[in-house]
Formats: sequence, C-alpha cells, structure tokens
Amino acid sequence: MKIIKKISTMQSISDELRKNNKIIGFVPTMGALHKAHIAIIRKARKENDIVVVSIFVNPLQFGPKEDYKKYPRPINQDLDICKKENVDFVFYPSVKEMYPYGKSFTYVEVKKFRGILCDKFRPGHFCGVSTVVAKLFNIVKPHKAYFGEKDYQQLKIILRMVKDLNFDIKIIPVPTVREDDGLAYSSRNLYLSLKEREVAGNIYKSLIYCKNLILNRKFKSIKKCIEEAKNYLHKMLSNVEHSIQYFEVYDDNLDVVNNNIDKIPKNTKLRIFAAVYIGTTRLIDNLGFKI
Ligand code: PAJ
Repeated sequence: MKIIKKISTMQSISDELRKNNKIIGFVPTMGALHKAHIAIIRKARKENDIVVVSIFVNPLQFGPKEDYKKYPRPINQDLDICKKENVDFVFYPSVKEMYPYGKSFTYVEVKKFRGILCDKFRPGHFCGVSTVVAKLFNIVKPHKAYFGEKDYQQLKIILRMVKDLNFDIKIIPVPTVREDDGLAYSSRNLYLSLKEREVAGNIYKSLIYCKNLILNRKFKSIKKCIEEAKNYLHKMLSNVEHSIQYFEVYDDNLDVVNNNIDKIPKNTKLRIFAAVYIGTTRLIDNLGFKI
C-alpha cells in the first residue's frame, strides 16, 4: 500500500494505471474509519483492479461553529485498516496541498436538493462537499466512486453533480451499515458518552416506527405519522439531553410527497430522514421503503 500526499503524484499514478487498463475504484472519506467505511472498501475491492481511499478532513464543508477542529484523526489506525483491507493507494493530502491559498476561489454548487434536510441547517456544507469531491475526482481519476446511503442527500448531490458536469465516473451507492442496535456507524459516534450511546439506537427505531405507521395506515396523514414517531423518539431519549433537528418524509428523489397517504401512488419509494442531537453530538439517519 502506498500513501500519497501530493496531488501531482496521485494524478501521475492514476494516469499510468489507466494507460494499463486498470479499473480504479475510489472511496472518499474523512478518516476515523469504522465498519461502514470498511464495508465500502471491501465492495470497492471486489469490483475494481485498484482501490484508492482518500482521507481528508475537508475544512470547506464544516460551518464556523462545527466540529472541524475536534473531528477525530486517528491516522495510524486508519492506515492499518486500509493496509489490512488491501487498499492500493491512500490519498492523504494536507489542507495546504488541497487549498494552497487557504481557501478555494472556485466552488461547485449543486442547486438542487437545497433548503431542505441538512442543507437547511448546515448552509454551505454541501457546497464544500461537492467542491472537494470534484477536486478529488480530478486528482484520483477513478472509473467508479462509492458513497454511502447514510448520507443520502450527499449521495443525491454527488449523483447530480456527476451528471451535470459530465464526470465520466460511475457513482455506486452503498446501503447504510449499522451497529447491532440499529445505530448507523458514524465517525461522530465516538463523541457519545456511554449513557448517550446506550439510547442512540432509538433514532433508527423511530424511523422504523414511522415507516410502520405509514405502511399500516395508522393515520391518514404523513404529518401525523411524523408527529407520533417524534413523540416516540422523545420518549426513548428521555434519559439524555437531546433535540430533534428534523424528522421528515420525502420521496426517493427528495421531492415532497402528498400528505394524504391514500393519495401517494402505489409503489412510490419513500424515505424518512432524521437529524437528532444527542447531547452535543449531531447524528443523521434515513430509511427508504416502498409504499
Ligand atoms: P465520511 O463521513 O468519512 O464518509 C465517507 C463515506 O462513507 C461516505 O460516502 C459516507 O456516506 C459513507 N458512510 C459513512 N457512514 C456510513 C454508514 N453507516 N453506512 C454506509 N455508508 C456510510 O462523507 C464524507 O466522509 C465526506 O463528506 C466526503 C464525501 C469524504 C467529502 O469530504
């Protein structure tokens, strides 16, 4: 396994690999690798000749009051994991290498999926994501790139960017990987206290609860199902400080659905999204299903 810190080196390596007809699979990450990252790396390993993992905590996608400074950076542990998973190249640039002028003068902004879900509460976040992913695509030059469904809005934005800017890259979605109690793996789970961790699995349980309310036509309206699911979640989290930032239902394309469940066409793919603060830790999750 080679660790590459320079953009120009990564680009030359990728050029050479492509000349030799090697298929390059790319897994962009911010490090603090956990089982979900590993599942993605394994999928990429199976489906490509060469696997490149990037580890870069991207300052551009953190708001001024967010956790950029305290975001975990266990680089040695991450490199050990990559080695064990037979990763070929880890692209691990410095902030200076990626943003030599301290900031970017050029941004990629996907003007879809705006003003909803995470974009409503993290203005500028997705612009930071799409900008760094576009840069990484130009650096790693992969044939395929892998993104988790846990960050569903991010996945949709990247799919849109790739289409609109004609990146010749196939985006492969990977289903959400969860702990035994349902909590979606996240590098931010490390922030949870023991007591908080014990109840965090209820976020996923509340998504399932909401899904069942909708599927069983317990109420006529989506809004009422959401309200009930939020009540359920509040109750389950009552032992810890928490707040629900959003709890919403959209279709698979992040379009608004009819509030009257009977008016939603059969076979429509719905997706329930939640962002929840447990203590000071913000966790997100989502669940897709067909009505
Ligand atoms: P990061 O949070 O490190 O996640 C890297 C990839 O792993 C993303 O595609 C994310 O959706 C996926 N992932 C994380 N937890 C997951 C889970 N429990 N199940 C399935 N997939 C999961 O997302 C980012 O980094 C950054 O925004 C990045 C795309 C690297 C740009 O900086």
